[in-house]
Amino acid sequence: MKVVLLPGDGIGAEVSAVAAHVLRELPLQLELEEHLFGGAAIRETGDPLPPETLAACRAADAVLMGAVGLPELDRADVRPEHGLIRLRRELDVYANLRPARADGVDLLVVRELVGGLYYGQRGTRPDGTVFDTMEYRPDQVERIARRGFEIARGRRAQVTSVDKANILDTSRMWREVVERIAPDYPDVELDHMLVDNCGMQLVQAPGRFDVLLTENTFGDILSDVAAGVTGGLGLAGSASLGTDRPGIFEPVHGSAPDIAGKGIANPAAMLRSAALMLRHGLDEPAEAERLEQAVDAALAAAPTPDLGGGATTSELTGAVLSELRR
Ligand code: NAI
Ligand code: MG
Repeated sequence: MKVVLLPGDGIGAEVSAVAAHVLRELPLQLELEEHLFGGAAIRETGDPLPPETLAACRAADAVLMGAVGLPELDRADVRPEHGLIRLRRELDVYANLRPARADGVDLLVVRELVGGLYYGQRGTRPDGTVFDTMEYRPDQVERIARRGFEIARGRRAQVTSVDKANILDTSRMWREVVERIAPDYPDVELDHMLVDNCGMQLVQAPGRFDVLLTENTFGDILSDVAAGVTGGLGLAGSASLGTDRPGIFEPVHGSAPDIAGKGIANPAAMLRSAALMLRHGLDEPAEAERLEQAVDAALAAAPTPDLGGGATTSELTGAVLSELRR
């Protein structure tokens, strides 16, 4: 099994090194191949997603990514984040799964990842007006909605579809498509919720949700909220899946320039993403489970500063490794 590792920038590179170390400890025939991506790739080649990197990703069984983003490139014309947006589209990973778990909370955000506001037409008019557009085709909505219903079947069988149908036409169509296919999943309970209300409910009563099905931008924001109420960004991993191309597995967090280089990044989000890769990308559910349990136990024994503890990245990594060797 070949895994392309894209460390990227800031703590992305730090937690990627941890993931490489831990994955090599597992009893699997894994070939890890590292490639340039993000700001690191811009510095060397001028392109955040160089052609060799894209070719390697296409040929891989899975792509494991750290994070991208460099403060000095935040306002540049070519930005690290462009590489990320392009890679998602190139691999057509339309379903982004973001689990959030804590006491009494076990929810999964199923976010459409390759359409909507982040991919619509954008531009500047002569009078200085700047615009981004949100566009969806019905078939784009249908495939993510079907994915959401299917995933819900393996969970508590409740889908909450989140939109802004009182204002947006894209949301009205979203709701129509979801309603139209819902009868194909009679065993799954469906309700609809407006996104602003959903934000509040996530903070006040996150335990009421099972699967949150939503479009790209709403899902981006709501999954950070869900991460926030279940322990923070240092814990949140994600899986981005297409139909038969390799998936992309990455933490929800970014490159965290405020703590980069200090050796205190929490590698749990990255290791949980690696576990999602073992489960959804490489069909190794037993090793995924073992890794998740090792991470949970290590977090209890050696929490990093974002969790109120004092452990460094390498101390938490050491705790994960000793759990795995037990
Ligand atoms: P961020 O996720 O990098 O950081 C937000 C806050 O959470 C910071 O205080 C950071 O220290 C903390 N944090 C995040 N991950 C952590 C971890 N593993 N352990 C401990 N603390 C952690 O988001 P921010 O600051 O908004 O963005 C920084 C850069 O990252 C920007 O250039 C942004 O564009 C980029 N970014 C990249 C993403 C990606 O590669 N998928 C996603 C989000 C942001
Ligand atoms: Mg985000």
